[in-house]
Amino acid sequence: MRDLPRLQGYRYGMPSVNLDAKLALIGEHWSPRTVATVNDYDVRLVKVQGEFVRHRHADTDEFFLVLDGELTIRMDGGDVTLRKGEMYVVPRGVEHQPVAATETKVLLFEPSTVVNTGDAGGELTVPRVEL
Ligand code: NI
Repeated sequence: MRDLPRLQGYRYGMPSVNLDAKLALIGEHWSPRTVATVNDYDVRLVKVQGEFVRHRHADTDEFFLVLDGELTIRMDGGDVTLRKGEMYVVPRGVEHQPVAATETKVLLFEPSTVVNTGDAGGELTVPRVEL
């Protein structure tokens, strides 16, 4: 297990997690918040709008589930558009650019070490934050 900060209280008396309540606490776009850990993976919530930076994750797949709104993931092999209740897995190493015309709420499932901008870096990079 990696030496990462872990959310408290999972094994004993962990309250249920209400995704809408967590999302209501998120004000910024493109800034994922970790709401649970599953072994060495994070469950992250993010609100998105506009265009994110094109990037890839060399070592891991990335899971997207749209909770509300509409997300398009631009990739060289073709774009994928996800609506509420739809999911997609971007394979490791594949360049992807998430875009959303209107505010969209997304659940991500990915290793706790994943950085949001992958190999691209830049000003949209944010640290891992638990919520
Ligand atoms: Ni990504």
